[in-house]
Amino acid sequence: AVVLALADEIDASRGDVMAAAHDPCEIADQFAAHLLWLGTQPLLPGRPYWLKIGSRTVGAQVTEIKHKVDVNTQEALAARSLELNEVGYCNLYLDQAIPFEAYADSRELGGFILIDRQDNATVAAGTLAFALRRAGNIHWQHLEVDQAARARIKHQAPRCVWFTGLSGAGKSTVANLVEKRLLALGRHTYLLDGDNVRHGLNKDRGFTDEDRVENIRRVAEVARLMVDAGLVVLVSFISPFRAERRMARELFAEGQFLEVFVDTPLAVAEQRDAKGLYAKARAGQLRNFTGIDSPYEVPEHPDVVLDTVAESPEALAERLANLLLGDS
Ligand code: ADX
Repeated sequence: AVVLALADEIDASRGDVMAAAHDPCEIADQFAAHLLWLGTQPLLPGRPYWLKIGSRTVGAQVTEIKHKVDVNTQEALAARSLELNEVGYCNLYLDQAIPFEAYADSRELGGFILIDRQDNATVAAGTLAFALRRAGNIHWQHLEVDQAARARIKHQAPRCVWFTGLSGAGKSTVANLVEKRLLALGRHTYLLDGDNVRHGLNKDRGFTDEDRVENIRRVAEVARLMVDAGLVVLVSFISPFRAERRMARELFAEGQFLEVFVDTPLAVAEQRDAKGLYAKARAGQLRNFTGIDSPYEVPEHPDVVLDTVAESPEALAERLANLLLGDS
């Protein structure tokens, strides 16, 4: 144990790094890194994890898997996810900058683990190779017209209202009715609907877990821009995974994001089968169908639950619209 007396008043605590003034370590939030995947669930690019380096823990996403490595031949192979015991070379994005050194120069400042945010299990061990150059060259541009000003001229509180539920649960039906009602009362709105966004921005995405993660990450970012523009944004996507719904919530200010669980039992959604997709999935003609052979993780703490069996879409939409109008 040592006692340090600092010349200046500095808020320094556990996890902070002290470096020689003539040779400071680099600071960055984007890296190229090697990963050994240890999770029983595969690594999904875009999903948020915790990264622990030394005694510091920060939020992290793998933005891209450059390749995985065949451990027998050392050959680089194309990969969209990493499974248990696979080794990969990736781009990492952290939610704050950290002091670091390449693992080749310092094990302490270049070695890290990734932790699952739901169950706190260690899912990867990794080493930092180098900071991506764009990390140092892209800055946040300060703009003078801000969200508050854009919202003020529209006389409303911007919101992201996120509908989640099975295919055929009634998300889009209710969202559409809510939007009509808000619009009639002069609110400025936009409805982002899974089926529609998949015809444009997300037309390169299918229904594997990796594709759904990226589908949701993109629409969450679009919703954030629209909220920043001052709009009341309704998002109607199955969004089957808790991790991505939580990621979406974290993009918004406290109270600005409302998770609406459109609660319809699978049997009921399947019986309605408006698009005939459940029949196809049961017949084995459609793979990775939510609720059949692809999971849906029920929200644990939704802000609103809409029971579509007990009440009509009109009644549910009216209640939700009133809730939104009440606090804007
Ligand atoms: S999400 O899971 O990635 O959030 P999203 O809401 O964009 O899904 O798209 C769901 C819509 O795609 C469904 O309403 C349905 O019409 C259609 N669809 C086609 N194939 C599938 C599938 N395998 N699983 C779920 N929905 C599918």
